[in-house]
Amino acid sequence: MNVSIIGTGYVGLVTGAGLAELGNKVWCVDIDDEKIKRLNNSVIPFYERGLDKLVERNLKLGRLKFTTSLGEGIKESQIIFIAVGTPAKEGGEADLTQVISVAEELGKAMEDYKMVVIKSTVPVGTFPLVTEVLKRSKKTEIDFDIVSNPEFLREGDAVYDFFHPTRVIIGTEPGKNEVAEILKKLFAPLKAPVLQTGIIDAQMVKYASNVFLACRVSFVNEIANICEKVGADVMKVVKGMSYDKRLGEGYLRPGIGFGGPCLIKDLKALIKMSENYGYNAQYLKSILEKNEHQVNSTIIKLKEALGGVLYRKVIGVWGLTFKAGTNDVRNSLSMRIIELLRQEGAQVQAYDPQGMEEARSLVKNIQFCSQAEQALENAEALLILTGWPEFAHFSPERMKTLMRNALVLDGVNLLNPEEMRRKGFIYRGVGR
Ligand SMILES: NC(=O)c1ccc[n+]([C@@H]2O[C@H](COP(=O)([O-])OP(=O)(O)OC[C@H]3O[C@@H](n4cnc5c(N)ncnc54)[C@H](O)[C@@H]3O)[C@@H](O)[C@H]2O)c1
Repeated sequence: MNVSIIGTGYVGLVTGAGLAELGNKVWCVDIDDEKIKRLNNSVIPFYERGLDKLVERNLKLGRLKFTTSLGEGIKESQIIFIAVGTPAKEGGEADLTQVISVAEELGKAMEDYKMVVIKSTVPVGTFPLVTEVLKRSKKTEIDFDIVSNPEFLREGDAVYDFFHPTRVIIGTEPGKNEVAEILKKLFAPLKAPVLQTGIIDAQMVKYASNVFLACRVSFVNEIANICEKVGADVMKVVKGMSYDKRLGEGYLRPGIGFGGPCLIKDLKALIKMSENYGYNAQYLKSILEKNEHQVNSTIIKLKEALGGVLYRKVIGVWGLTFKAGTNDVRNSLSMRIIELLRQEGAQVQAYDPQGMEEARSLVKNIQFCSQAEQALENAEALLILTGWPEFAHFSPERMKTLMRNALVLDGVNLLNPEEMRRKGFIYRGVGR
């Protein structure tokens, strides 16, 4: 099939390259001229394992094309995915500026029937709005359908997730079975369970799923804090819980909290959306509060360990991205913790295997180190904030020779506490 993707970010590019790999002819459209130029030379604008090969191969085969011209990009396709960003506004609600702008451009450019599939995570109320904008901006009496197809990929595993989705959700307007059938055919090679729903159901599947993941992280952090008080090891507690299939083990990893481009924003958007519909989502608000508290508790622990003062203390930070396997620092809690350290007057020297460039544009007045080692030099404490495997393999002996104090605050429970303590470190994990 011929497919177009508007918005060539994490979701759009992975979806575009994946669909091309399945044999479709895909046009990826973006307003970012520089990004499109780089992509046309097989240069991937962000770090995602396996994506470079996929893009390069499909570009060469002519199945994948990149353009900044929406008119050119949608001309040959019947199916148009919208995969632009929907960041949180100041008050928490989803900012639909990019989606509406695409709808306007799309309306103007459509010359024949199109199936407009919204992949971006958008709140209830967006579909009538997009429909109205499309109708208002189209030049002639062209028919179109509008479909919801929320995305569930995880950055860091996005290529794998494209080819092995847990489910495909297709939300259509009532009586639009033939529209759903076209999308089912497109995704059929992935052999994933498909659920056809109404549009609002599909939107709620996405929000409820992300918020449930946030809830699990928040829950396990609460349990971790209790474990610290009562003297239990939360990692053993979680292991013990995970044998129960009803509980599983996903997203039960204690740490500094949940961050990243989606969980916080989607949680805030759902709270705001509930408010707009006259419901006070008190329970969801408490998840958000708990997350804030978890971030602050990292600073409190560090302060306690360093005699109550962080002013002028040299703090090494390992990990800037919101998780390992990506260079994405959007809403990364590591960035927030660094900001708090700066407010306390600490001197931060930070390293990340992939996120340095992105972080540089967000935080100032810290030292960015070119190697993990450098972040340890003369440090009075090391904070580990992202679970990159290379941190787990770093020699504790070497660590000790570089640091001023053998003090490690492991915000992601990456290291072995017994080993670290045996080797003479003051080691504090989360909930152990
Ligand atoms: N990143 C994830 O892990 C993830 C996972 C599931 C769902 N989502 C959702 O998918 C959507 C996209 O997320 P993302 O992380 O890929 O965003 P992103 O910011 O990485 O990419 C958005 C892209 O859209 C482009 N764009 C903006 N306005 C445009 C326009 N008018 N025309 C063409 N292109 C335009 C931007 O230049 C950018 O390249 C969001 O709604 C997000 O919540 C993201």
